[in-house]
Amino acid sequence: MELPASIHVERLHGTDAEAVLVLVLLTACETADTGRSDCELADVLEQWHQDGVELERDAWIARDAGGDAVGYAFVHGGRADVQVHPRARGVGLGTRLRKLVEERAAERGVRELVQVVRGGSRPADRQLERTGYVPIHHAWRMERPLDVAPASPHWPRGITERAFDGDGDGAAVLALLERSAARGPDGRPLALDRFHDEHLAVDRLDPELCVLAYRRDLLVGAAICETWDEVDGTIEQLAVDPRERSRGIGRALLLAAFERLRERGLNAAVLHAGADEAREPPLYAAAGMRPVWRQTSWRKHLF
Ligand SMILES: CC(C)(COP(=O)(O)OP(=O)(O)OC[C@H]1O[C@@H](n2cnc3c(N)ncnc32)[C@H](O)[C@@H]1OP(=O)(O)O)[C@@H](O)C(=O)NCCC(=O)NCCS
Repeated sequence: MELPASIHVERLHGTDAEAVLVLVLLTACETADTGRSDCELADVLEQWHQDGVELERDAWIARDAGGDAVGYAFVHGGRADVQVHPRARGVGLGTRLRKLVEERAAERGVRELVQVVRGGSRPADRQLERTGYVPIHHAWRMERPLDVAPASPHWPRGITERAFDGDGDGAAVLALLERSAARGPDGRPLALDRFHDEHLAVDRLDPELCVLAYRRDLLVGAAICETWDEVDGTIEQLAVDPRERSRGIGRALLLAAFERLRERGLNAAVLHAGADEAREPPLYAAAGMRPVWRQTSWRKHLF
């Protein structure tokens, strides 16, 4: 399909003006695909400033006749990000950008390329499926409204719920996440030092919202929760010691977390869940959480 003459695809140079254009575009795409966006300029710059990125060869921007960004593509380290503005979809721009990232990845010797489609966009998913990609991972934003009180948590015998108390608990939570082989919603192992800095550091942690489960003096489960506004509370991580699984501790942690978020006056509990299968994990649905959107990671063998 020929691109309309009004759309021009150019290489990116990394100027501040381009960063702002890309941010506006990503915000429009994310809002159209998921109903909200928390994309910031820092996220764009972080992507561009990764080690080994050669921006002029790894990124493209598509502009319309008025100079606004209607497309963006970036490829690095075996992952590609292709975004097309909702008003420029269906004219072949996604195909053009996909070919550019695939060519660049192959030129760099990348054998497997991964792309993520947010919001369960059927045209985008279908295009990747048609062009040789296979789905390898799924993630959902799950929400539970807190207007109705949750059932009380039922803790298995010998397990006690405790509040987060002092620095020692932060180290115990990190050790639990390590024992649990905790993964992010994207399926990749959790970067523990980053998780500490972003969620457990004293200036970030909201101890009253977190739930810890102990067997005697051993931490065996944790729900690490936080809130950034007056509306949503996020369960950032839920983890249970591998030796204590399938006894209901995960469910009890979720219910106790809902209770705390509700007491804080928040409207909804949010959790980003990941799975290799296309079905959302039943634990969350059983606790009353519903998927608001999903995203799929697709992989293609380039050669
Ligand atoms: C998810 C997890 C907290 C569940 O804890 P749990 O104490 O075993 O949970 P419960 O006993 O209340 O419920 C068990 C159910 O959880 C579900 N479950 C298993 N693994 C799961 C996973 N990775 N994600 C979501 N649900 C899962 C299953 O339906 C399971 O049912 P089964 O025992 O009949 O197979 C635990 O498996 C874990 O710590 N996983 C590693 C960390 C992680 O991936 N956390 C999710 C990111 S937020």
